[in-house]
Amino acid sequence: MRTRAAVIFGVGRDWEVVDVDLDDPGPGEVLVRTRAAGLCHSDEHILQGDMTPPEDLIAEAGMESPFPMIGGHEGSGEVVAVGEGVRRVQVGDHVAVSFFPTCGECHYCVTGRQNLCDMGANAFLPGMITDGRRAHRLADGTPADPVLKLGTFAEHMLLSEDSVVRVEPDIPFTPAALVSCGVATGWGSAVRRADVRPGDTVVVVGTGGVGMNAVQGAAMAGARHVVAVDLVEWKREQAHTFGATHTAGSIDEALPLVQQLTRGRGADAVILVPGLMTGDLVAPALAMTAKGGSVVVTAIANIMATEVSMGLFDLAMSQKAVKGTVFGACNPRTDIPDLLGMYTDGKLRLDELVTRTYSLDDINQGYEDMRRGNNLRGVIVFD
Ligand SMILES: NC(=O)c1ccc[n+]([C@@H]2O[C@H](COP(=O)([O-])OP(=O)(O)OC[C@H]3O[C@@H](n4cnc5c(N)ncnc54)[C@H](O)[C@@H]3O)[C@@H](O)[C@H]2O)c1
Ligand SMILES: [Zn+2]
Ligand SMILES: [Zn+2]
Repeated sequence: MRTRAAVIFGVGRDWEVVDVDLDDPGPGEVLVRTRAAGLCHSDEHILQGDMTPPEDLIAEAGMESPFPMIGGHEGSGEVVAVGEGVRRVQVGDHVAVSFFPTCGECHYCVTGRQNLCDMGANAFLPGMITDGRRAHRLADGTPADPVLKLGTFAEHMLLSEDSVVRVEPDIPFTPAALVSCGVATGWGSAVRRADVRPGDTVVVVGTGGVGMNAVQGAAMAGARHVVAVDLVEWKREQAHTFGATHTAGSIDEALPLVQQLTRGRGADAVILVPGLMTGDLVAPALAMTAKGGSVVVTAIANIMATEVSMGLFDLAMSQKAVKGTVFGACNPRTDIPDLLGMYTDGKLRLDELVTRTYSLDDINQGYEDMRRGNNLRGVIVFD
C-alpha cells in the first residue's frame, strides 16, 4: 500500500513528508494506522547526526547509509491488518509501539528486562526484524527503513508484532503514544532505575517530555524533595504541578540548594535528562549525589562521545554509581498498560504533558518549537 511519512534524507536536513510504499504484512507482522506520534528528542538526535556515525566512517566500514529513514518511535494506533501467525493482536486492537521489540524468549525478556531484549540489536540493522526484507520504499523504489523498526511519523506503520503492545480501547491515542517512549522512560528512570524510596531527595536535570515524568515518578515513589532543573523558566513552573518541590535554573544552581535541603548529605539520585547528554554533566551531578547514591544517565549523547571526567576516588570511597538506562528499565509489555491504568485512575498526568498538537505536514514546526523550548511535548495527531 502507499502511505505518507516524514523522512530524514540526511543529517541536518529538514523533515520531508513524502509517499512511501509498504509491503502487505508478512508472517508475524502487523499493519497499524497511526493515530498519534510524540515528538521525542531522540528523533531530533537522528536529524542532528547524534545517533549515527559520521558518513565517512559508515562508508569505511562498508556499511549502508541509514538514510533515507522514516522518523518517529513514540506512537499509537489501530491494527488494520495482520500477517500469518500473529498471536498478540488482532484487527481493530489499539496498540502503543515499543521502541525496543520484546521477543519474550531471550535471556533478557525471560529475566524481566524486556527493555534489553536481544532483538533490540536487530532494530539497528537494515530491513524488517522478522525476515530482514526491505518492506518500506520511497516512490522510486529506494528502501527507507523506519527508525527503530517503527516509523510513527507516518500515516501507516508496518511492524513486527514484537514491536506493539495492546492497550485498552477506551484509552485515548495521545496518552497511549506518550507512554510508548517519553513517559515510561522518565517515570522508570526514577522508579525503576534510580529505585527512588520514600523520603529520598531526587534531582532531575532537564524537565522536558521525558524528564517531567522522572519528576512525577520520583514524587509517586515518595521522594521528600524533588528538585527540577531546567534552563526554561515556564518548564520549571510546570514542574511543580508534576510533583517538584523545588526548582533550579541550572545544575550549578541546584548544588547549593540540594546541600541546604539535605543538610550537606546530597541527593539520593540525580537523573540526567537534558536534550543532549554531554560528559561535563557527570562531575557536577556526582558532586551533589549523596554517599551510596546514583547518577542515572537517561539523555542520549552523540554516538561518538566518549569523554567524561569524574573523581574516581570519590566514586569508590563514597560508593556512588553512574548508570545508564534505556526505556527507564521498564518492561514494555507490563509497564505500558500499567502506566495507562494509572493515567485512567488519575494518578499519572499525561494530558498535561501535551503543549501543542500538529499535523504530519507541520512536523518541522513541531521540532522548531522543541528547539525553542516551547513544548513539554508536541504531538502529531492523525485524523
Ligand atoms: N534512554 C532512553 O531510553 C531515552 C528515551 C527517550 C529519550 N531519551 C533522551 O532523553 C533526552 C530528553 O528527551 P526529551 O524528549 O525530554 O527532550 P526535550 O527537548 O523535551 O527536553 C529536554 C529539556 O532539557 C532542558 N535542558 C537542556 N540542557 C539543559 C541543561 N544543561 N540543564 C538543565 N536543563 C537542560 C531543556 O530546556 C528541555 O526542557 C534526550 O537526549 C532524548 O534523546 C532517552
Ligand atoms: Zn523517545
Ligand atoms: Zn527478548
